[in-house]
Amino acid sequence: MAKDGPAAGKDQKKTAASNQTVQWWKLPTLEELGQEYQEEQKGKVKKNKAQEIDPWTVEAATDEHGQSLAFDYEAISREWATKLIDQPLLDRFEALTGKRPHMWLRRGLFFSHRDLDRILDCYERGDDFFLYTGRGPSSDSMHIGHTISFEFTKWLQDVFDVPLVVMLTDDEKALFKEKLTFEEVMEFARQNAKDIISFGFDVKKTFIYSDLKYIPYNGGHMMLNAWEFSKLVNFNQVRGAFGFNGSTSTGRIFFPSLQCVAAFATSYPHIWGDDPDSDFRSKKTAAIPCLIPCGVDQDPYFRLVRENAGRMKNKSPKPALLHAKFFSALQGPGGKMSASIPNSAIFMSDTMNQIKKKINSYAFSGGQETKELQQELGGNPDVDVSYQYITYFDDDDEKIAKIADDYRKGKLLTGELKAICIKLLQEYVKRFQDNRAKVTDDVMKSFMTPRKLEWKGNPNPKKPESKQKVADRTKQAGSAGAEKS
Ligand code: TRP
Repeated sequence: MAKDGPAAGKDQKKTAASNQTVQWWKLPTLEELGQEYQEEQKGKVKKNKAQEIDPWTVEAATDEHGQSLAFDYEAISREWATKLIDQPLLDRFEALTGKRPHMWLRRGLFFSHRDLDRILDCYERGDDFFLYTGRGPSSDSMHIGHTISFEFTKWLQDVFDVPLVVMLTDDEKALFKEKLTFEEVMEFARQNAKDIISFGFDVKKTFIYSDLKYIPYNGGHMMLNAWEFSKLVNFNQVRGAFGFNGSTSTGRIFFPSLQCVAAFATSYPHIWGDDPDSDFRSKKTAAIPCLIPCGVDQDPYFRLVRENAGRMKNKSPKPALLHAKFFSALQGPGGKMSASIPNSAIFMSDTMNQIKKKINSYAFSGGQETKELQQELGGNPDVDVSYQYITYFDDDDEKIAKIADDYRKGKLLTGELKAICIKLLQEYVKRFQDNRAKVTDDVMKSFMTPRKLEWKGNPNPKKPESKQKVADRTKQAGSAGAEKS
């Protein structure tokens, strides 16, 4: 084009990718354009890209050089119209439960919610509700990032004393991972169940199930819920939420209905003492609210269930949600721990020595190059991955504040900061490994058997509820559920 040619007076042009100057009439070789350019062409490096988050894609935004930026969680919350967790909400939580909010709430690892206040209302009245979380068993090993929602859910179960269901979406993984077979994922589900049990859940209050095993044999009501739900939701609705298109397999298109109806109490008649063989699902059970702790990438499923819960024949309230941030990769902000990139993550099967090596070699540091520079200029804890991990694994606020202060002032060296982090992670992983060794097949079976659960809920409810009130709320749940999400 003329504007690029000699007539325009330009005899040189900069390549977009590398800022290298090459003469315009001589086509640059690939080497001249540099590796960065080649990777961009292969689609590996994306520049100036907005962040992309859904259940199957978690990618941070990139700058003009293709470098990953940190995730912008406030933007996610704004875009999806969730509420950020604030101090008044945590104060109310503490006043009602008598428990100091978990450090992951205080320090923003769980940063956003939908209707947590309604769950607190329930707890205050002494009404039943249940917890629901899950995992897609895509491999037999979990990294620290995978464990966050389980460690946190165990804490919530202790605080609220309520039933918990854990859904293992082996069906989802076989459908969405081209290479995985249905046989493989069922075995992963069993191994993952053992991992999950290691967080110390109370078997009396916890039901863990694999979709492929529970639903065909004992989950008739869950399947009924899924069929009824799928009848309410058309392809346009899931296409938008999940990015499906005409070549998406029909299994993938149906699957969201299952993950959604797992939030309805009627999917587990055994837990509440309802008859699982009846054609009818209990109206009263359908009205039991649900709280879902999950990674924020799972929100699209639960928006869908919130939009449709009130349209079911037996109406359920919109499930409440607690959203977690992604656990940073060792390499720093914008990365998410990934099971397929071994050096991005600390695995729960890592040895103590591997943990030490990974933190020392890969954890992104906000410190200076040398000891002398660190003492003179100080480090930056805000971008330091070891410091961030410390804030997630040490409950002591004063100690954390002192570490940050000492690091900034250069009193604490990078090696010393890493040593603190290594010790905390080793303790966390060791405790897990010791518990895991005790989970036998029989223990696993006891958690995975459909049965009636036992819980007590709030020991000091505000006032016992009359039958009339329960009936009113059942009605209300119906109309509230019918509103827009
Ligand atoms: N889809 C989730 C995953 O791939 C698993 C899951 C199912 C889940 N139900 C959930 C996660 C509820 C959190 C909350 O990991």
